[in-house]
Amino acid sequence: MADISTNFLGIQSPNPFWLASAPPTDKQYNVERAFEAGWGGVVWKTLGEAGPPVVNVNGPRYGAIHGGDRRLLGLNNIELITDRDLEVNLREMTETKKKWPDRVIIASLMVPCEEAAWKAILKRVEETGCDGIELNFGCPHGMSERGMGSAVGQVPEYIEMVARWCKENTDLPVIVKLTPNITDIRKPAEAAKRGGADAVSLINTINSITAIDLDDFAPQPTIDGKGSHGGYCGPAVKPIALSMVSEIARNPETQGLPISGIGGITTWRDAAEFIALGCGTVQVCTAAMTYGFHIVQEMIAGLSNYMDEKGYASIEDFRGRAVPNVTDWQYLNLKYVTKAKIDQDLCIKCGRCHIACEDTSHQAITHMVDGVRHFEVIDEECVGCNLCVNVCPVENCISMEQISGIDPRTGKPANDGYANWTTHPNNPSAKTSGEAVQFTPNAAE
Ligand SMILES: Cc1cc2nc3c(=O)[nH]c(=O)nc-3n(C[C@H](O)[C@H](O)[C@H](O)COP(=O)(O)O)c2cc1C
Ligand code: SF4
Ligand code: SF4
Repeated sequence: MADISTNFLGIQSPNPFWLASAPPTDKQYNVERAFEAGWGGVVWKTLGEAGPPVVNVNGPRYGAIHGGDRRLLGLNNIELITDRDLEVNLREMTETKKKWPDRVIIASLMVPCEEAAWKAILKRVEETGCDGIELNFGCPHGMSERGMGSAVGQVPEYIEMVARWCKENTDLPVIVKLTPNITDIRKPAEAAKRGGADAVSLINTINSITAIDLDDFAPQPTIDGKGSHGGYCGPAVKPIALSMVSEIARNPETQGLPISGIGGITTWRDAAEFIALGCGTVQVCTAAMTYGFHIVQEMIAGLSNYMDEKGYASIEDFRGRAVPNVTDWQYLNLKYVTKAKIDQDLCIKCGRCHIACEDTSHQAITHMVDGVRHFEVIDEECVGCNLCVNVCPVENCISMEQISGIDPRTGKPANDGYANWTTHPNNPSAKTSGEAVQFTPNAAE
C-alpha cells in the first residue's frame, strides 16, 4: 500500500491533509476530534498579540453561493482571527501537542508590523512545542484595516521584512501564507523567499460580496443593515488557487520553494491536483466546515487507492509532475486539431449542445435532420472548442477526438507537427525561422 506520509520542511506528517487555520482549529476540543478522525495536522486558528482579544461581529458572518442542488460551492466570511485569550490558546496547543506527538500543529500568527511584537509572540509560541509557524498575511477583512493580514501581504517589502524578523527570532520553520488579493502572486512569494521563509502556503480567502439583499439593499451577510466585503473560499476558489500555485511552482525565482496548497480542496482528487503542481501538504477549511472532520477518511482512502493504481509508492513519486506541463498560451501547439463527436446511443436529445454552439458563433451542431431531432457535429464548422462537452448533461456523451489528414474546416493539414504563436506568420512580432525557438515544452520559458 502506498505511503502517504509527508516530510514538509522536516515536519513529519502521517498524511498530507492538514486543517487550515479557521474555526475548525480554534480550540483543543476541535483539534483533538480532528486528529481522532485522521487529520495529519492542523494550522491553529490565527493567534494575535497578548492583551484583550479581538471582537467578532455577533450577527451572521457567512454568505454562500449554492449550486442548483443547494450544494455549497462558495463560502464568504467576515470572521476575524481568534477571539479567545492568547494564554488559553497557548495552553491548549501545548496540551494537544503533548497528547498527539505524531500529528502536526502549526501556529498561525498575526501581530502588528513591529519586530518587538513578532519577537514576543514567537517566544511564547515556541514554548508550546508546535512544529512551525504560519504568518497570516492573508486575511482580507477586519485585520487588514488595522494594518495586518492582507495589508502586509499586498506589499512584498513588508512580507520580506516580517519573514526575516521571524527567521532571526525563531528556529521553527516559517511558512508565509499568501493573499490572493494581488495582481501577481509571484511577487509576494519571491519576497517571502528573499526574507528567508521556508515555505509559502496559499491561498487565503478572496475579497468578495456574495449577494445583495434586494429588499434591504445591503450586502449579505447583513449586520444591522450594513455589510462589508468578506473572504471567499470553498470549491469555487480552487481554480484560482491552482493557477496561483502553478505560477509559484514554475517561476524560476521560486522554483523548489516548498508550498502548502489551500483553496477549495474537498476530495482526494483536489488534493492530488495540488500535489501534482508541487505542493508538499494541502490544507482544508470549507470542506471540513461543511461535511465534518470525517471527510479526511475519504481523502486518505482515495489518495492511497489512486497511488496504488498508478504504482506510486510515495507522494514524492508524483509531486510536481504537472508543473512542466503548465506553459504560457504562446507556446501551445496551434497544429493540434480536435473535433467533437456525439455518442448517439448516450444522447438524450436535450439540445443544449446545439444552442450553446449555435449562439456561441460556431453553428457546428445540427438539431434537425430530415425533420427529426438529431444532434450531430458538422466537422466543417467545428473549431474544437469543447463548449458542447461542458454543457452536455450526460457525462461522456460528447468526446473530443484528435483528427488526422486535412481539417475540413480550414482545408489545412491537421496534427502534422508543432507550431506556436511565437513563429506564426499572423504574429507581427513572430520570430523569423532563423531565430525561432525550437520548441520543447517549457524550454522557451
Ligand atoms: C470562517 C473562516 C475563518 C478563517 N479564519 C482564518 C484565520 O484565522 N487565519 C487564516 O490564516 N485563514 C483563515 N481562513 C482562511 C482559510 O484558512 C483558508 O485559507 C481558506 O478558507 C481557503 O481554503 P478552503 O477553500 O478550503 O476554505 C478562514 C476561513 C474561514 C472560512
Ligand atoms: S467543439 Fe465547439 S465548435 Fe465544435 S461542436 Fe462543440 S461547441 Fe461547437
Ligand atoms: S447536450 Fe448532450 S444529450 Fe443534449 S442533445 Fe447534445 S449531445 Fe445530446
